[in-house]
Amino acid sequence: MSDRYLPPARVRADSASPIQSLDDWRRVWMAAQQDPDAFWLHETRRRLRWQRPPTEGLVGNFSDVAQQPIRCFADGRLNITESLLDRHCEQRPDKTAILWEGDEPGDVRRLSYAELHAEVCRAAGALRRLGVQKGERVIVYMGMVPEAAIAMLACARLGAVHSVVFGGFSAEALRDRVRDCGAVLVITQDEGLRGRRTVPLKATCDEALEGEHGVRHVLVYRRTGAAVGWTPGRDVDWAEALAAEAPDLPAVICEAEDPLFILYTSGSTGRPKGLVHSCAGYLTWAAYTHEVVFDLRENDVYACVADVGWITGHSYIVYGPLCNGATTLMFESTPLHPDAGRYWDMVDRHGITIFYTAPTAIRALAAQGDAFVRRYDRSSLRVLGTVGEPINPDAWRWYHDVVGEGRCAVVDTWWQTETGGIAITPIAPATPTRPGSATLPNPGIVPVLLDADARVVVGPGEGRLCLSQPWPGIARTVWGDHDRYVSTYFSTFPGYYFTGDGCRRDGDGYHWITGRVDDVLNVSGHRMGTAEFEAALVSLDAIAEAGVVGFPHPIKGQGVYAYVVLQPEAAGADEAALLKAVNEGCRAVIGAHARIDLVQIVPGLPKTRSGKVMRRILRKVAEGAPEQLGDVSTLADPEVVAAIVAGARRL
Ligand code: PRX
Repeated sequence: MSDRYLPPARVRADSASPIQSLDDWRRVWMAAQQDPDAFWLHETRRRLRWQRPPTEGLVGNFSDVAQQPIRCFADGRLNITESLLDRHCEQRPDKTAILWEGDEPGDVRRLSYAELHAEVCRAAGALRRLGVQKGERVIVYMGMVPEAAIAMLACARLGAVHSVVFGGFSAEALRDRVRDCGAVLVITQDEGLRGRRTVPLKATCDEALEGEHGVRHVLVYRRTGAAVGWTPGRDVDWAEALAAEAPDLPAVICEAEDPLFILYTSGSTGRPKGLVHSCAGYLTWAAYTHEVVFDLRENDVYACVADVGWITGHSYIVYGPLCNGATTLMFESTPLHPDAGRYWDMVDRHGITIFYTAPTAIRALAAQGDAFVRRYDRSSLRVLGTVGEPINPDAWRWYHDVVGEGRCAVVDTWWQTETGGIAITPIAPATPTRPGSATLPNPGIVPVLLDADARVVVGPGEGRLCLSQPWPGIARTVWGDHDRYVSTYFSTFPGYYFTGDGCRRDGDGYHWITGRVDDVLNVSGHRMGTAEFEAALVSLDAIAEAGVVGFPHPIKGQGVYAYVVLQPEAAGADEAALLKAVNEGCRAVIGAHARIDLVQIVPGLPKTRSGKVMRRILRKVAEGAPEQLGDVSTLADPEVVAAIVAGARRL
């Protein structure tokens, strides 16, 4: 078959991964499918340090999540930081655990496993002294500094539950999360730094916490040294607090199913949900998939350039790599600072062997031409990963041919905040790849496509992507709202976990993700709900109603298109000025990453007689396909459609 890329031939040599060929994959996938209990017990015992090893494996099924939450290794006891730190301090104390590259090229810090262990213990000591106890929630609102990972692990050391909030989120979004999880402490920094621009993290945090009495302390790491507001009694300096603590602190032993972290993510409706990940199941899944998918070797220099504010940063910068004793890069800057060669400059200087990024970055860099890539030596690279959104075949080929010089495996990894780790993906040394396909499920993942009538699609076909069996890393619940968890994921297709994505399966059983089929947007790999945008828009005085949809965008994957109905007082407003105003509104309510690309003033939204907005019409017009509107006869006011089509905006 053409356009099929065989895995590069290579020596097994120092690889620890059990899957090196397609036959291995078949055998291992079947083993996980036939006896998940035995399979995952074996994996976890070998990968994690347990105080009391579990005898129970994976329990639960998707027909009964309301009554019986999924559990994994439930009778085991451990503190996961012993698997990430203490164990490696015995085996590889001087190996670099975190390789940090700051905003300026060459501004580098290296923390060995021994140093990381000491810092985490000191930070945990400081948190404990500030009153943080097992099970309490701590928000981490930071940029990409090693201290963000240290903060996460310090919480885990105490059995406290961290919730990292991406540093781009607004004060309002931060406050919502602080309240929702009932945080007792926030860890932040004076300012973030990205592409020489500062991000006022402490000031935003102060604004978010105005009047919030549940937060007892704010621990502040000084990154830039800028003067920031200080609330005596509440605010505590990170360096001073850690200096008073010992470099060793016994870990608080937890139950396997205790929550490790909460991560908020957007859905079709309502406010973002706090997905809860468990200690042992999550870590086993993150570590297993990290080793197997990327074919991790002891001497790898592994770089995932995501942000710890998203699940990719949790699983594949912090938890998976550190559990595997890898050297993991943390990158503070942007792919364009100081120019479009920054990633490849880092590959060259650090000898990066595995590189993991998002299609948006690949498209943006490809658009700048090959010279930025070719300027640097990339011979160290072996595996190239992509995540977060569908990758178009052109971007895939550029990544493979130009960045990887045609000799690296490209792994297009499909997964979600909910799955905890990579679910459908090529396995670097084993799976023949095709540009645009996430290919085959990892062991433990059983994908099923369902058609519009909820019938299982057999063989090649297209449908809604569901997963039919639990795996160790699945999020266990929505914080404080198990009903919402059940209704969001398990009610559309009873008995299945519904991913929200559409998918095509070809004759070889390869999966081609077609994107979200719900009202979730994926802009530059950032997941956002149309409902969140709409709420931000109608909070503005000028706007009476708003309908927000996505449209294909050449770089961002999806752009954001807003249809707005003005309040009578705002009639005659200029669209360009309005676009500026709505973006200021979105920045204030959601965050700096939430930007609307196109705004169209409309006389009304297309609604059915029962008052439901027909989003299909908004989508088709935004996509530039008004000829595909279909039946509009059920609309209350069909005239509105003509006005919408006539006034459609283009980039
Ligand atoms: O639509 C899919 C898309 O990203 C969604 C999950 O977003 P989030 O929870 O923020 O996690 C992103 C990082 C894991 C999915 O429902 N998505 C993620 N990876 C891919 C993808 N779509 C296509 N191909 C991928 N490789």
